[in-house]
Amino acid sequence: MTDHTHFKYRGIFPANRPRRMRKDAFSRHLMAENVLTAKHLIQPYFVIEGTGKRVPVPSMPGVERLSIDQLLIEAKRVFDVGVPLVVLFPVTDDSAKTADCRGAYADNGLAQRAISELKAALPELGVMTDVALDPYSPHGHDGLMNDAGYIMNDETVEVLVRQALSHAKAGADVVGPSDMMDGRVGAIRQALEADGYQHTRIMSYAAKYASSFYGPFRDAVGAAAALGKADKTTYQIDPRNSDEAMHEVAADLEEGADMVMVKPGLPYLDVVRRVKTTFAVPTFAYHVSGEYAMLKAACANGWLDERSVTLETMTSFVRAGCDGVLTYCAGDVAQWLAE
Ligand code: PBG
Repeated sequence: MTDHTHFKYRGIFPANRPRRMRKDAFSRHLMAENVLTAKHLIQPYFVIEGTGKRVPVPSMPGVERLSIDQLLIEAKRVFDVGVPLVVLFPVTDDSAKTADCRGAYADNGLAQRAISELKAALPELGVMTDVALDPYSPHGHDGLMNDAGYIMNDETVEVLVRQALSHAKAGADVVGPSDMMDGRVGAIRQALEADGYQHTRIMSYAAKYASSFYGPFRDAVGAAAALGKADKTTYQIDPRNSDEAMHEVAADLEEGADMVMVKPGLPYLDVVRRVKTTFAVPTFAYHVSGEYAMLKAACANGWLDERSVTLETMTSFVRAGCDGVLTYCAGDVAQWLAE
């Protein structure tokens, strides 16, 4: 039972008039419990081959796939307004996709080149990567598939380990396993330790749900067509569950995750709060592509005010217990906060 006795000292009306404190900006500001800052904002980018290329993502207005040279320009812009970390998602050619997903750990792969060029250009900006096989698999799943069409766990983990090591070797500060295979955090942590990458942080997509809000992302990386009508319910969490998310978070922490993430964001803030209260560890959420698309669509129609609704959305993540939010709005929000 929650103990409500500590609320009673405030008394009842008119001894207590909650509107007194809300009357002026100064007293509203004094009692603000949560304050959104640029440090809360983590910017994802879609990276493509080529030079001078910016290719818009139709279902994500304002988001472009960037060639590495353009990525450097954008990353500098968000770094300058205080965004601490960016996340890279390579958009690979169909020719780079094979059943064994060996493209995932190619030394000279797109992701690996993007990491090392970013670290060379902006050494103080944190760089995180996505550890999962979907950009490299012909079927758009996050792992290796057997003849029965099942995504194999332990075989996939072996490839994920090689992928994570290749990211660390290229200079990634944080690796982000987003695949939801069992035991992958422990396997990656062991391999990083063994190879001398003890400083590489792991932000695990610990509570990643089998969500329909990832649609626009799958368009952006070209996985939607490959995936077709298939879903990821044999490895991502059922949206009906939240105890299960606690078990996933506990396992990833035990296996060596430094930070944990809940994904998607807004529809799962109850899970964020449970994670923060239960584990008291660095906790993050992913405001995913579909959430971004909904916001942008309503704003484009003039139905919502973009700036105030976006700031309110981001503040809600902080209030729910997030130490940071991965959001396609990160750069814009940090810019607004700086104005
Ligand atoms: C795949 C991955 C996905 C996202 C991040 N990494 C999609 C998926 O699981 O199918 C979704 C991000 C978003 O929707 O913004 N490893």
